[in-house]
Amino acid sequence: MKKVITYGTYDLLHFGHIRLLERAKALGDYLIVGVTSDGFDKVRGKINVQQSLMERIEAVKSTGIADEIIVEEYEGQKIDDIRRLGIDIFTVGSDWVGYFDYLNEYCDVVYLDRTKGISSSEIREKERSVRIGFIGSKNNKVLSKYYRESHHVNGVETVGIYCEGNKIKELDGEEIKNFKTHESLLENSDAVYIASDPAAHYELVKEALLKEKHVLCEAPMALKKEECNELFEIAKENNLILMDAIKTAYSTAYNRLLVIVKSGRIGRVVSVDATCTSLADLSNKEEYINNNWNSICAWAPTAMLPILQLLGSDFSSKRISTMYLDEDKKFDSFTKIDFNYDNAVASLKVGIGAKSEGELVITGTKGYVYVPAPWWKTDYFEIRHENQEENKRYFYQLNGEGIRYEISAFVKAIASATQNRFIDDNVTAKIVDVIESYYDNRDVMVIK
Ligand code: CTP
Repeated sequence: MKKVITYGTYDLLHFGHIRLLERAKALGDYLIVGVTSDGFDKVRGKINVQQSLMERIEAVKSTGIADEIIVEEYEGQKIDDIRRLGIDIFTVGSDWVGYFDYLNEYCDVVYLDRTKGISSSEIREKERSVRIGFIGSKNNKVLSKYYRESHHVNGVETVGIYCEGNKIKELDGEEIKNFKTHESLLENSDAVYIASDPAAHYELVKEALLKEKHVLCEAPMALKKEECNELFEIAKENNLILMDAIKTAYSTAYNRLLVIVKSGRIGRVVSVDATCTSLADLSNKEEYINNNWNSICAWAPTAMLPILQLLGSDFSSKRISTMYLDEDKKFDSFTKIDFNYDNAVASLKVGIGAKSEGELVITGTKGYVYVPAPWWKTDYFEIRHENQEENKRYFYQLNGEGIRYEISAFVKAIASATQNRFIDDNVTAKIVDVIESYYDNRDVMVIK
């Protein structure tokens, strides 16, 4: 019996896939189809897959062409499968010509002509198709990163940029359309990414929502809790997606970390301690003071994320210790916040005028999680126990600092009309509430 094997993602199964499977089957007597797992697709940079592994397996099964279906989970598995399953022929479409020649050592390799004019990417592109505009201010450096990363997401059409006081004419050789006003950019977009001055976010988000545009906004999306709740209300009433752009929340490793901790692996969580600093040259004090991206706005939303997501937002008290750069007490160069819960504590340290180890430690009654610096670009973490033999290390690929996963989550949320499942609205609102308390001088102690 001649055994044939082929691999693929088979997202949104189409005619090209079926033709390939039929011809693969005709090469022998028994066809095994390897369907790639979500995790492996992410590792190999395929971030746009729309259907779950189970849905994709079901679709391949329903063609009735495959005799057996297996899951492909890791790099190098093809060699293992070919040996283990006694494969005679390995085949894939001609888009891979030459790529799998190394398998000739184990079996025959056949490249079949790819069917022209159809692909999963094109179907996703057509199904989603969201025109995204980018709104920023000259003090915000992330705008071009988000613009660039959008090119990795299927179904995103980048409309252009409105950046107050700063034109971004070109990125990687691509000419960028600059709009004169944010209103004109809004008119030409279905959705916007906003990374402006934090004090301007509320008005910008509100205006976009009232013009029925979906919004992905850098945190904090407002400086008052009431304003934040109002924004969520408007989004809900108009069936619009409103998402907090804290990139860490969308990384695979960070999400695995959350579920591992929630499943009790380190026992009960008694403390969460997060530090985020990025030391800047503050010699030109005035320039910094006029820039509202102080330490608390720039970093506290990220640092609060694991605290609120693991311990909840019902802390009983907090204390903000802060060191100001200016006499008006608006610009903090360093801030430490201590949170007290009924059954746990938490702390964060943020600063652009001080430097520390940017790590995250989650203390539990049976062990702890250690995420090394810079923990907010999470791709690696360790679960550590008293008995070192029980320690475990985890690594998950992180591409584009997680920004492309975030934009992909935004586009998926728009396509499926379901709100953000990565950051709850009440976590966003609590982040804003804590920042509001800083500006109102509530629970604040000054470090001189
Ligand atoms: N295939 C094909 N003809 C097409 C599309 C895919 O023969 N028009 C083949 C591929 O060469 C591969 C298999 O089908 O052997 C599974 O491909 P997959 O990557 O899942 O499909 P694509 O449509 O190419 O997906 P994407 O656009 O996400 O890359």
